Amino acid sequence: MTGGRRWLVTGAGGMLGTDLVAALAGREVTALTRGDLDVTDVAAVAAAVHGHDVVVNAAAWTQVDDAQTHEPEAFAVNAVGAANLARACAAGAAWLLQVSTDYVFAGDAQVPYPEDAPTAPRSAYGRTKLAGEWAVRALLPDRSWIARTAWLYGAAGPNFVATMRRMVTTHDTVGVVDDQSGQPTWTGDLADRVVAMVDAQAPAGTYHATAAGATTWWGLARAVFELSGADPARVLRTTTEQFPRPAPRPAWSVLGHDRWALAGLPPMRAWDEALRAAWTSLPEPAR
Ligand SMILES: NC(=O)c1ccc[n+]([C@@H]2O[C@H](COP(=O)([O-])OP(=O)(O)OC[C@H]3O[C@@H](n4cnc5c(N)ncnc54)[C@H](OP(=O)(O)O)[C@@H]3O)[C@@H](O)[C@H]2O)c1
Repeated sequence: MTGGRRWLVTGAGGMLGTDLVAALAGREVTALTRGDLDVTDVAAVAAAVHGHDVVVNAAAWTQVDDAQTHEPEAFAVNAVGAANLARACAAGAAWLLQVSTDYVFAGDAQVPYPEDAPTAPRSAYGRTKLAGEWAVRALLPDRSWIARTAWLYGAAGPNFVATMRRMVTTHDTVGVVDDQSGQPTWTGDLADRVVAMVDAQAPAGTYHATAAGATTWWGLARAVFELSGADPARVLRTTTEQFPRPAPRPAWSVLGHDRWALAGLPPMRAWDEALRAAWTSLPEPAR
């Protein structure tokens, strides 16, 4: 695979997909939203992949709680959809970059998960995303990358940072869980990293595409309040037990980044530095 690549982005209308298409400006890109291509449609996927050199799959069922009661539907997108793309790539010469998640891990570790740590998803969403990883590795072992990411925020979708930014203006105080740790990751940085790893012709395999450092949701909310010019003391600590959700959330979503050295790339920048850099590109809450 050399320069002049023809790129295909699936799920191009999503939060990551939108930033990916922006990061690929000036290149030869086919950007397909869900309306253009349903990744569960095997024949449509084969036709769409034809003629491309790199496929980035940003399409997914991402409603974590709904997946608990709609696992077959989530599986169709996250596992069968990924398999359809991998099979179509295998039929030609294309590489596939499959975006995955920290939810493939049990979330009960105390040190960053290395890329080859054993997986043990605790939710339906995590199971379906892990099945997608397996399918891609099995069908396209030498021409695929799995890029696991987590705690995404960006300009083009609902996310925790946008919610907290809105709450600065609508709430005096807000209670946020302080017993889940992770790596808030800007979709702008992730999109740049996807392009960089393809350009660097990173070896096929699994990479952890999350920001460096770690914080809790409480820590992230405080950072959002600070950047909004509000008093971070308005963000109060709560616990997961006080905020039960249909799908269990991993307590520990901190991922290790050692594999980037194989690609000759440094780890991604720290989450707080990225948040400051992203800030002006994120939409202000409607008043
Ligand atoms: N958001 C996070 O915090 C997070 C964390 C870890 C990993 N990830 C992974 O990162 C990737 C991007 O997520 P995101 O945050 O950008 O999610 P998103 O905004 O929900 O984008 C996903 C896109 O996929 C589309 N889609 C759903 N079903 C489809 C189908 N059958 N065929 C084609 N497109 C379909 C969605 O369209 P509709 O909106 O019309 O349904 C949406 O545009 C996903 O692989 C996700 O699993 C996200």
